[in-house]
Amino acid sequence: MDKKKNGFASGIGFVLAAAGSAVGLGNLWGFPYKTHDNGGAAFVLVYVACVLLIGVVTMMCEIFIGRRAQANPVSAFKKVGKNVGWLGVLAVLIPAFIACYYSVLGGYTVRFTVNSFAGNAGTFIPFAGSGLAVVIYTAVFIGMALVVVMAGVKGGIEAASKVLMPVLFLILVATAIFSLSLGEGVKEGLTFYLKPDFSKLSGTGILSAMGQAFYSLSLGMGAMIAYGSYTGKEINLVKSTAMICLCDTAVALLAGFAIFPAVYHYNVIHGSSAGAFQGVGLMFQTLPLVFEDLGTVGKIISFFFFAMVGIAAVTSVISLLEVVSQFIIQKFRVSRKKAVSVLALICFAVSIPVGISLGQVLGGKEGAITVFGQNLLDLFDIITNTVLMPVCAFFSCVTIGWILGPKKALGEMAEDGQKLGWFAPIFAVMVKYVTPLLIAAIEIFGVYDLIFPKNAEGLRIFSSNGLGITLCAYGLLAIGVILYFVFLRNTACGTNADEEA
Ligand code: PHE
Repeated sequence: MDKKKNGFASGIGFVLAAAGSAVGLGNLWGFPYKTHDNGGAAFVLVYVACVLLIGVVTMMCEIFIGRRAQANPVSAFKKVGKNVGWLGVLAVLIPAFIACYYSVLGGYTVRFTVNSFAGNAGTFIPFAGSGLAVVIYTAVFIGMALVVVMAGVKGGIEAASKVLMPVLFLILVATAIFSLSLGEGVKEGLTFYLKPDFSKLSGTGILSAMGQAFYSLSLGMGAMIAYGSYTGKEINLVKSTAMICLCDTAVALLAGFAIFPAVYHYNVIHGSSAGAFQGVGLMFQTLPLVFEDLGTVGKIISFFFFAMVGIAAVTSVISLLEVVSQFIIQKFRVSRKKAVSVLALICFAVSIPVGISLGQVLGGKEGAITVFGQNLLDLFDIITNTVLMPVCAFFSCVTIGWILGPKKALGEMAEDGQKLGWFAPIFAVMVKYVTPLLIAAIEIFGVYDLIFPKNAEGLRIFSSNGLGITLCAYGLLAIGVILYFVFLRNTACGTNADEEA
């Protein structure tokens, strides 16, 4: 396994790129509001346990699957077993879907960054519903990711991550320090964040922590397989995995320190709630109010804060585009430039209705574009995040735990100079039993919750829309499987060596 011209040049470059994929809107936005809704520190504890029990092992499997094949996810899964290659198709389809909606949110962050000095407070709903502006900002955002991916793994992804990730971290630490120094309300915010309230943590909360850990670490969608394939012997599997998981978790925890004190500060001063901690509201409605309240300093903080969120989002979309591009480049033997531009164009085209639909629904417009009662962004998110990603991650563990077998996997790792030491027996048990079982639980309860959601009184009721979405997602999975067995199983799908310089 010598160094490929299109691989990562250094171990730290790989870790930063993978951390760039992992650190995203999930950490800076999803984590704080889910923590708020599920009993503060109680949720945080469960989350950290999930990272350790599910995240670490799954990530090691994915990086290993990619690395041993030095190829795209389809070829990589094929190398484990010809009949599990369809997982690779899933691992390429999922990021394509995510890229289409994630870029809309990425576009929002660009707009909120550049609009910081004019003031973002109260502009969210009009902006989101504006149509054209959303489309333009989404295009700018995708353009940034495109430039990086086009420049290749070493010259683009690695180089960008090495600059952007430290910048992100510095801004986040600075924002957290600033937020902690606001005085009034800080104590209340910290108490809420750090004092576990287990009475608010329900079964759904625990599942939400599991799903969050998953999504946050970019597992179950090919990113770690693709990035892993660009590494060789020089990278220590266990250490790299530990560092990526640590970075991702640290950023999520720090985001809590940046957001809770600031929002509570605002609430205490105004004797009211700044607005929901809920989903889209927290990032684009509540925080702009908090920033506005801080005057000129607030504008500067707003600029850096949203730039940081934008950086987090763009490094994630870069990984999404890379997974799909890698497959296209290697399977169809086209140049990176061609593959990336066509892909980015398709993503952009799909992101247009997604952005418009979300804006319409947020603005409460009648006749808004929805499918199964959801705006297109949430629809895509549920299909990938709730239904398909756990399937993909489950099988990543199962292929190593049951098809290749931990013995063979550990043997291969040792041959590669990767001795797991005391972790080896733990890994063997986890990858076979513990981790797949936990992931299966996420899948089963996630789908159950989709088809039988709780109504306002907390009773479970049947949702035909939920069933529709579930069928849609599994239908997509079925299409992936068929495509694989008809077109890909018996033809070569290429490796990293097939990318022309
Ligand atoms: N991990 C990213 C986040 O936390 C989201 C993501 C998921 C990015 C899957 C790429 C792939 O926001």
